[in-house]
Amino acid sequence: MSNTIPQQAAYCLLYKSDQKTQNKAQEQPQSQPSNSSNTEDNQARNNNNNNSNSNTFWQEFEWTPGQKSTVQNILAKNLVKSSIHSNLSSRGNFLVEKLDKEAHLNWDRFYTSHQTNFFKDRHYLNKAFPDEFGVVYGQHQSPVEGENGAEQKQNERAASDDCADDEIASMDVTALPPFTIVEIGCGVGNTVLPLLELDPIITVVPNDFDPCQEPQGEQTNRSSSSSSSKRKIAVWGLDFSKVAVDLLQQDKRYIQAAQKDHRAMSAVWDIVDSHPGEIHPELESCSDISLLLFCLSAVSPEKMGQAAAHVAATLRPGGTLILRDYGRFDEAQLKLGSSLGKRLSENFYVKHDSTRVYYFDLDDLERLFGQSGAGLICIEKKYIQRVYKNRSDNTERRRVWVQARFRKPLLRLSS
Ligand SMILES: C[S@@+](CC[C@H](N)C(=O)[O-])C[C@H]1O[C@@H](n2cnc3c(N)ncnc32)[C@H](O)[C@@H]1O
Repeated sequence: MSNTIPQQAAYCLLYKSDQKTQNKAQEQPQSQPSNSSNTEDNQARNNNNNNSNSNTFWQEFEWTPGQKSTVQNILAKNLVKSSIHSNLSSRGNFLVEKLDKEAHLNWDRFYTSHQTNFFKDRHYLNKAFPDEFGVVYGQHQSPVEGENGAEQKQNERAASDDCADDEIASMDVTALPPFTIVEIGCGVGNTVLPLLELDPIITVVPNDFDPCQEPQGEQTNRSSSSSSSKRKIAVWGLDFSKVAVDLLQQDKRYIQAAQKDHRAMSAVWDIVDSHPGEIHPELESCSDISLLLFCLSAVSPEKMGQAAAHVAATLRPGGTLILRDYGRFDEAQLKLGSSLGKRLSENFYVKHDSTRVYYFDLDDLERLFGQSGAGLICIEKKYIQRVYKNRSDNTERRRVWVQARFRKPLLRLSS
């Protein structure tokens, strides 16, 4: 009980601050946190923030039972007030349907207004997902490369950066299909564009992952095989907002990679409405990594199953889906869940700009993408929970995200 009042007070203080700044700065976790709540690693990050004169620092947290029931009580207490149906009675259904039908137009408006200035570029995928992105960032160490292999490879890369395009032209990387990364819901390319800046040729060790023999859970796809191969990286950016895709296509990093090397592709795709093969024949079963970052939360919960199946269809057998999105009881959910007429359905809300957001728990992800959903195998699912503290006004904000990795089986598992 002692947690109740300070917790509510903290949320109240918090909501007074500028919403836009909060969204921009804290929309998404910027790097991979560790799992424990008070590690040396954490301490080091906090000290880093001290050094940069920041008044804000974060720590990982676990909900105590008291804090969790406080949050649940706040949402339950505001259930009627927050529901679009109780506030607009018969117009509620009409508005819910309109928001769904016009979802892409609302995102078009969002990007028309913010252009490329809202989300930050993502440069941390290798830290957050080393098993998948280590190789993309040139960090794979094959047995042939040995102890100094990574450093040597970095030096080689520095020397060859200027002639990367010539390198592609002269190497026989066409013998193998490109190492393909697909971002679904890519927006204006904050993930796609930094990927296109990396070395376009990577060394890949064959993936000998066999889902039928893997114990559920933890095995990585690293192989001890030494028969590595050079492959070109190809990146797809997909989004249902035409304005966002147009902005991506105007970026000079995109233009260069698309025109010179044919290793950047993009298309307008609504993941609810169509199978990837209908958008482009090459999109079906093409990807080594498919990324779904803060996209699925914008889809109506009753259509997420359909969307998950379409997303999974982009993966080649053995390919990995990486997902990050908003998590249950994130502070922003508490704010929307305490506001008048913002709740469309359970854990699903409309924001001030008419875009929508769902707050996931880990069971949702398993249901959507696991064996009884899109038929993938879960290799990781977890919450990322951070409390951001501000020294100057003594407020704190509890942010929650979900993160998961699912792999497409090589063989169809028979029941
Ligand atoms: C919060 S933004 C995230 C953008 C980007 N992934 C990032 O993390 O910076 C959500 C993106 O998902 C896209 N989106 C929402 N619903 C979609 C759908 N049904 N099909 C395809 N894209 C969708 C939106 O247009 C928007 O660009």
